[in-house]
Amino acid sequence: MLNIVIFGAPGSGKGTQSENLIKKYNLAHISTGDVLRAEMKNGTELGKLAEGFISKGQLVPDDVVIGMLANVLDAKSKDGVSGVIFDGFPRTIPQGEALDKMLAERGQEVSIVVSLEVDEPELIQRLVKRGIDSGRSDDNEETIKARLDVYNNQTSPLKEHYKKTGKLAPVFGMAKVEEVFENITVAVDKVK
Ligand code: AP5
Repeated sequence: MLNIVIFGAPGSGKGTQSENLIKKYNLAHISTGDVLRAEMKNGTELGKLAEGFISKGQLVPDDVVIGMLANVLDAKSKDGVSGVIFDGFPRTIPQGEALDKMLAERGQEVSIVVSLEVDEPELIQRLVKRGIDSGRSDDNEETIKARLDVYNNQTSPLKEHYKKTGKLAPVFGMAKVEEVFENITVAVDKVK
C-alpha cells in the first residue's frame, strides 16, 4: 500500500495537491480538517467541540483526532484503493506515533512524507484571498496568524522526526500547482 503523508503549513497546498494525487495513484483521501468541518456542519457533539478550537486556530486535542482516525481509515480503505493520502494528519509528535502504530497494526507503514515548502508571506496571501469566499471560520487574518504559530510550534517538529526515518521529501511549494504536482510525483515514484 502507498501511504502518503502530505505535510505543510496552512495554505501550503496540501488539499490542492491531494486532489491530483488521489487520481494518479488511486488513493483514498483522509483530510482531518474536512472530517472535522463535516462534523461541524452536521452539528454533532464532535463538531461542536472542534468548532471551539478551529475558530481560534488551535489544534483539536490529540485524543479526539486520533480517536476518530481509526474508523475513518478503515472505512476509506475498503474501496479497492492502492493506499491512503493523509492530509493534515499527523500534526503533533503523538499523532505521528499514533499513525505509525495504527498502520503497523494493519501491516502497513508510512511510505513517504511530502513536505510542501512555502514561505509565510505567500501562505498569508493565499489564505486571506481564499477567505474572501471560502466561508471558513479560520480564514481571517487573526486566525491565520494563530494557525501559523501553531504550525511552527507544534507541527513543524514532526519534520525532524520524519527526517530521521528517511521518509521526508521536501518539495518547493511556491511554483505553479502543476509544477509542484510534477515534483511530488518524482518523489513518490521513487518509493512506489
Ligand atoms: P485543515 O483543514 O487541515 O487546514 P490547514 O492545515 O490550515 O490547511 P488549509 O486547508 O488551509 O491549506 P492547505 O495546505 O490544504 O492548502 P490548500 O490546498 O487548501 O485544518 C483546519 C483546522 O482543523 C486546524 O487549524 C485544526 O484546528 C483542525 N485540525 C485539522 N487536522 C487536525 C489534526 N490532525 N489535529 C488537530 N487539529 C486538526 O490551498 C490554500 C489556497 O492556496 C487555496 O486557495 C489554493 O487554491 C491556493 N493554492 C494552492 N496551491 C497553490 C499554488 N501552488 N500557487 C498558488 N496558489 C495555490
